[in-house]
Amino acid sequence: MSTSSDVPTPRKNPAMETELGEFKTLEQFIIEQQDQFPHSTGAFSRLLRDISLAAKIVNRDMRKAGLIDIYGSTGETNVQGEVQQKMDALAHREFVLALRRGGECCLIGSEEHAEAIPMSTTSEGDGKYIVLLDPLDGSSNIDVCVSVGTIFSIYRLPDGYDKEEPELEAALQPGTQQVAAGYVVYGSSTMLLYTTGDGVNGFTLDPSIGEFLLSHPNLQTPERGRLFSINSGYYHSFEEGLRNYLDWLQEYDSETNRPAKTRYIGSFVSDFHRNLMKGGIYMYPATQGNPKGKLRLMYEANPMAFIAEQAGGRASDGRTRIMEKEPEKLHERTPLFIGSEEMVQRAEAFLAGEPERALPDT
Ligand code: AHG
Ligand code: MN
Ligand code: MN
Repeated sequence: MSTSSDVPTPRKNPAMETELGEFKTLEQFIIEQQDQFPHSTGAFSRLLRDISLAAKIVNRDMRKAGLIDIYGSTGETNVQGEVQQKMDALAHREFVLALRRGGECCLIGSEEHAEAIPMSTTSEGDGKYIVLLDPLDGSSNIDVCVSVGTIFSIYRLPDGYDKEEPELEAALQPGTQQVAAGYVVYGSSTMLLYTTGDGVNGFTLDPSIGEFLLSHPNLQTPERGRLFSINSGYYHSFEEGLRNYLDWLQEYDSETNRPAKTRYIGSFVSDFHRNLMKGGIYMYPATQGNPKGKLRLMYEANPMAFIAEQAGGRASDGRTRIMEKEPEKLHERTPLFIGSEEMVQRAEAFLAGEPERALPDT
């Protein structure tokens, strides 16, 4: 039986309060990065600030989704023929508003809009960037309180295009041309990760002060992992090489740390984020229902491929490096194999029908 002397004295738990001195804010970090480029105008920093602001608004609304009328679908379908959730529409709107207000972006491509959206901004900004985004990824999970995310990819407006009236073609650049990419995961905590091609940095939102704080500097993913994420409900429509790889992952062999473990949330950002942190592979291959895969090249695969590579991982469609694929359409789909270098290479070897192909460092 407990006595009053067992009751711990309430005391201030230092872990409950962020010591601001310990952490850099996203804003400070961006400014420091900008200072490394003497001719920088600050436009890119302002663009990131606009994105992070929209993310905070989406985060705020999502945290009370069950209390305000944002559960469920709008009754509309988006350009992909998928049911649009109210939060999809809301997130799309918040990102477009923030980017328009900021004025640094001249063209937006969004999963929730059939055409690319010219910003025709009248504000002070330079308007020299193109932003492609999945405003809310995994949105069908919101109604059941499961983590979702936002994915974004940033390009420069190429020479020869008018920033007042940029055509869609300006956005159709291969992933290698991205100047930055990132995602926000609205999970048990909210994190924003991004890269500009110089490593990956992760920031955790401290909701009490409304700031993203640098919690995961220079993030690297394990070269080998033990997690695999795929919707195995479609197993019978996978090509033979992939079925063989999945079977191999599930064999018992202590030397190679098998069987691997299945983890599949059905929310790409969340599945990717977990695997990035712990080591693993995420796969969305061609299936009977989606013969070209389900995920979209321009605002799902490319930005995550940029992050994965910058964190020491790998991303391909099973054969070709994702970031080298030449896009033809804003909403085109691609099969995707992404995550720890060794696991993606092995998946590629199985897909090529050469499972014994020597892998570097194995
Ligand atoms: P979105 O909500 O942006 O349309 O994306 C849903 C995607 C992705 O997040 C997830 O990994 C995948 O759909 C799940 O698809 P299945 O239900 O076919 O596994
Ligand atoms: Mn998505
Ligand atoms: Mn989406």
